[in-house]
Amino acid sequence: MAARKKKVAKAKSKGEAKKPAKKVVKLAPKKPAAKSNGNGLPRPSAKPWGQAGRALEGVKILDFTHVQSGPTCTQLLAYMGADVIKVERPGVGDITRGQLRDVKGQDSLYFTMLNGSKRSITIDSKHPKGKEILDRLVKECDVLVENFAPGALDRMGLTFEHIHKLNPRMIVASVKGFGPGPYEDCKVYENVAQCAGGAASTTGFRDGPPLVTGAQIGDSGTGLHLALGIVSALYQRIRTGRGQKVLCAMQDGVLNLARVKLRDQQRLKAGPLSEYSQFGEGVPFGKATPRAGNDSGGGQPGWIVKCKGFETDPDAYIYFITQAPAWTAICDLIGKPEWKTDPDYATPPARLPRLRHIFDTVEAWTKTMTKFEVMDICNKHDIPVGPILSMKEIAEESSLRETGTVVEVDHPGRGKYLTVGNPIKLSDSPADVRRSPLLGEHTDEILRKVLGYSDKEVAEIKMSGAITAPEKPAKADAA
Ligand code: COA
Repeated sequence: MAARKKKVAKAKSKGEAKKPAKKVVKLAPKKPAAKSNGNGLPRPSAKPWGQAGRALEGVKILDFTHVQSGPTCTQLLAYMGADVIKVERPGVGDITRGQLRDVKGQDSLYFTMLNGSKRSITIDSKHPKGKEILDRLVKECDVLVENFAPGALDRMGLTFEHIHKLNPRMIVASVKGFGPGPYEDCKVYENVAQCAGGAASTTGFRDGPPLVTGAQIGDSGTGLHLALGIVSALYQRIRTGRGQKVLCAMQDGVLNLARVKLRDQQRLKAGPLSEYSQFGEGVPFGKATPRAGNDSGGGQPGWIVKCKGFETDPDAYIYFITQAPAWTAICDLIGKPEWKTDPDYATPPARLPRLRHIFDTVEAWTKTMTKFEVMDICNKHDIPVGPILSMKEIAEESSLRETGTVVEVDHPGRGKYLTVGNPIKLSDSPADVRRSPLLGEHTDEILRKVLGYSDKEVAEIKMSGAITAPEKPAKADAA
């Protein structure tokens, strides 16, 4: 198309040389060219913000993910506007459909909250006809995302070589537990990754065992990393015209999120970590980064302190940070104005060995108010604090609903449920948050509209058993 326009322009400029006066008027555009701004890129859209299509519109994802890590990745891509086609095993589907069920016979929240805005097609990837359909999907899609156990995709016949032969533009993105090395063949779940990535050894209290966190940094964290890898590969493909493999190991993803602890590991060589409360308590450091309880991971000491009602409410706590510029305000608020000038408290280094006593004093003050009252007062003085919000409070928080971070969607089987919308806000690409698909809900639609199968072919596929669960033998046959 662009080449044809160039030719026309060339022909016109030839004519222009012969009859300059007439042609110049015709060729001098009143407005700049419609499609280019002179550097080969499209001109800025004149459409209102949010109406120029979604960020990943036109990108088709062949979604072979299951459980959590892969599905979080493809759900984010779907929120960004990609057409995510989730391939599931006939009759069974993603195992999480049936895990931790709260409504009898219906898809669980585990599944529905990780698979919104996607379409579902059932295909038996080991059935010959199923393989044929998958090959057509490979040719049609831009990205294949999977998080099977190591080797499972190859065993289906979908090796990178096979995929790349069918579609050299295909990006093949995988989550695995470990990268190449001694553990590459291991199956991995969330907490295995938290332990292997250095999070567990650095979480918890010094005198207790290692702890895993409630945030799914191994699964959802790695899904997020993978999404960035995919978008980068899509961007590179614009230049190179070819796809590539994208691999995110869960161990690597967790370590990336725990990088400040590897920072501290190296700082140990230079002496004790003075911002850790164990320093102030005179407890010697060992060879590895220790667990630091609720110490702040940055340069500003912090701790979780009790608030009014803590005796009965397990979340009546607040994170309190003694940021240096706010110190004088803190002293006034907690009733210790003398600490502003006392050499034992006036400077950050002087305070380090006394943090336990300081936070006990802060707590004596915060215990007289609710966490929200503490927050109101502290915010007025620029003192950073974080109320410990329960999931109940978060679910009911109206501002999170307004921003689309928490979204209520309606499901034909289970009714309304809450899901987490897109935490990444794009001003020109509003998130597309829809309910999760029923198992195989879009099988017919994808076969016909995406892959172009005819009525006859669809009927044959249905008969073949490649998209439906094997029928149980009828009673008469069984007898
Ligand atoms: N049709 C036919 N077979 C299918 C299929 C389909 N549509 N979809 C999946 N399968 C098969 C696979 O081919 C595989 O068979 P194979 O082992 O005979 O080759 C089988 O289902 C199971 O796959 P697998 O990934 O091994 O599932 P699992 O339940 O045993 O293990 C994990 C689950 C998560 C531990 C594992 O997939 C894994 O380690 N994944 C990578 C790390 C990861 O993402 N972990 C976090 C999960 S939240």
